[in-house]
Amino acid sequence: MYTIVKKRGLADQITEYVVQAPVVAGAAQAGQFAVIRLHERGERIPLTLADWDAQAGTITLVVQAVGKTTVELEERFHEGDALADVVGPLGEPSEIEEYGTVVCVAGGVGIAPIHPVARALKGAGNEVICIAGARNRGLLFWLDRLSDVCDDLIITTDDGSHGRKGLVTEPLKELVEGGGVARVWAIGPAIMMKFCSLVCQAAGVPIVVSLNPIMVDGTGMCGACRVEVDGVVRFACVDGPEFRGDRVNWDLLIARLAAFKEEERCALEQFRAALKEARE
Ligand SMILES: Cc1cc2nc3c(=O)[nH]c(=O)nc-3n(C[C@H](O)[C@H](O)[C@H](O)COP(=O)(O)OP(=O)(O)OC[C@H]3O[C@@H](n4cnc5c(N)ncnc54)[C@H](O)[C@@H]3O)c2cc1C
Ligand code: FES
Repeated sequence: MYTIVKKRGLADQITEYVVQAPVVAGAAQAGQFAVIRLHERGERIPLTLADWDAQAGTITLVVQAVGKTTVELEERFHEGDALADVVGPLGEPSEIEEYGTVVCVAGGVGIAPIHPVARALKGAGNEVICIAGARNRGLLFWLDRLSDVCDDLIITTDDGSHGRKGLVTEPLKELVEGGGVARVWAIGPAIMMKFCSLVCQAAGVPIVVSLNPIMVDGTGMCGACRVEVDGVVRFACVDGPEFRGDRVNWDLLIARLAAFKEEERCALEQFRAALKEARE
């Protein structure tokens, strides 16, 4: 039983779920994800393992409600309810080594998945600088947890309501151009990871990104998560999700992410109508 033992709203449409999943919790490593299904008729969605507690047998998922399944999770699943499936840990773990000074950049809900990566990098002896960015202060969360696992935390908001006004790429550019940064990690929307990659490429600093293509089985069989890296087709679920950002075909990834926009819009509209009817 994958029971939700804790549910907590973190920010606008962003919720933390602590879920009983002892097998996943016992094997989880930074950079990996799980594929969940809400119920027997639910679709599979991938979610990063934002934290885990092997002793308690729990994993922590941080979910942004963006479409039918994530809104259904938010609206219909509460503490004490159980998810139908939690499969994982999936994907290759992050390559954690002692690099020297590393910068971890997170955009929006990406703050949750960057957390275990920053923690592991810090544990391996690196000096870790985190940059966390969001559109406004209401979308920021886990800043205390992030500052616990890094040496310096830089916060940016697009509207200047918290931290520096502007995009995460601005402090990133200053850091990589200043010298001494051995490696960068970036997790967030594809467009943010693309621009972080361009900044790092120009400064000659290696960057690792966590790609988020549409996934179905999460085990390398369906081909849905096909991405192009270094001109070669890779499956993000088994070859990644982390890849060198300067080698990703971003235009292809961004186009494929938008391939089902109309179907996704219809599915959410139908779900909201059914939810409204059930409440009346
Ligand atoms: C490895 C990986 C880790 C992820 N980790 C997180 C996380 O920790 N927290 C979080 O909030 N989100 C995470 N995502 C994105 C999350 O899986 C999607 O937001 C979710 O599947 C959307 O489903 P939906 O039905 O609510 O929305 P939909 O309306 O179906 O889709 C909204 C958008 O989400 C993306 N999406 C839709 N279906 C899938 C799918 N099956 N697989 C991947 N992306 C999809 C598409 O870009 C789509 O346009 C991750 C994605 C990947 C690939
Ligand atoms: S999700 Fe099916 S091959 Fe990766």
